[in-house]
Amino acid sequence: MGPTNHIDPTEEMDPTDEMDPKDRATPTRAKWIAEACARLQGCGIENPRRDAEWLMEDVLNVDRLHILTRPDERITDTELDLLDEYLLRREKREPIQYITGKGYFYGREFKVSPGVLIPRPETELLVEWAIQEVRAGNRERVLDLGTGSGCILISIDLEVGGLSCAGADVSEEALRVARSNAERLGARVKMLQVDILSAGALEKLPGRIDVLVSNPPYIPSSERESLDPEVRDFEPEGALFVGRDPLLYYRAISRLAPRILVPGGVLGVEVHADHGREVAALFTDTGFHDVKIKQDLAGRNRLVSARH
Ligand SMILES: C[S@@+](CC[C@H](N)C(=O)[O-])C[C@H]1O[C@@H](n2cnc3c(N)ncnc32)[C@H](O)[C@@H]1O
Repeated sequence: MGPTNHIDPTEEMDPTDEMDPKDRATPTRAKWIAEACARLQGCGIENPRRDAEWLMEDVLNVDRLHILTRPDERITDTELDLLDEYLLRREKREPIQYITGKGYFYGREFKVSPGVLIPRPETELLVEWAIQEVRAGNRERVLDLGTGSGCILISIDLEVGGLSCAGADVSEEALRVARSNAERLGARVKMLQVDILSAGALEKLPGRIDVLVSNPPYIPSSERESLDPEVRDFEPEGALFVGRDPLLYYRAISRLAPRILVPGGVLGVEVHADHGREVAALFTDTGFHDVKIKQDLAGRNRLVSARH
């Protein structure tokens, strides 16, 4: 018997047969991730798979589980263009948070731009400390100096509720991002443009504060070359570096704090692991009480707190 023109119904159809020919050329999710991993690994990126999946989650607007359980789905042309653009940026060591425009802190999503520091998990220790102080002392008025994306202040405000919160930063871009984060997340906080190193800072800051928090710039310029390119080449200089005096901002805070805090008010600052003791000594010398140093999970000095 010769060949027939009938289609054998038992023959499996390729699901891409009816696709637009443009889309047929695009890789599956698994294939794109494998290729992205290889390229990112070649650039010295520490966790290439996590990064590739993270980029895909953002572009496809799905979670990781969705990607992992549907590895054979093809990505569209539009998705592929964006994924490839993101991959190129990541290969140049741009942080994922700047590529996708968002980072995570204390269980919430914060928008970020290259003009603000990316929120760090270690800063959550300062938030935990502040929440405890606010609750234990029935304190209400909180001020955050160098608020950046607003991640510290907004987290405290949303976790506790009913507070009166203000944040200050010298950077207009930081204030723009912080205000938009506050609005999107539903925090009622005030954002003020203040240079805390300037002579007129005190007049611009609210007085009668119960809890003062700050994660100021504290990296000496001498450490610049030892930083990851993601930090050194992409995060804002003014949020990271302090020139030659690692205590520059803590000196300003120790001058301002006694005039801002109510008697019994408390102060908590994040510190460079190597300078915790010096910051604690500075606060003790300035007349603060109960000066304490707290370590992070890795045992590094991370937070100094004190009472006015
Ligand atoms: C290390 S970042 C901390 C940002 C944010 N609080 C966080 O923890 O992610 C320091 C912040 O201090 C701000 N800053 C630097 N110099 C300042 C100054 N002289 N007065 C006020 N803010 C300043 C920077 O713009 C930056 O947002």
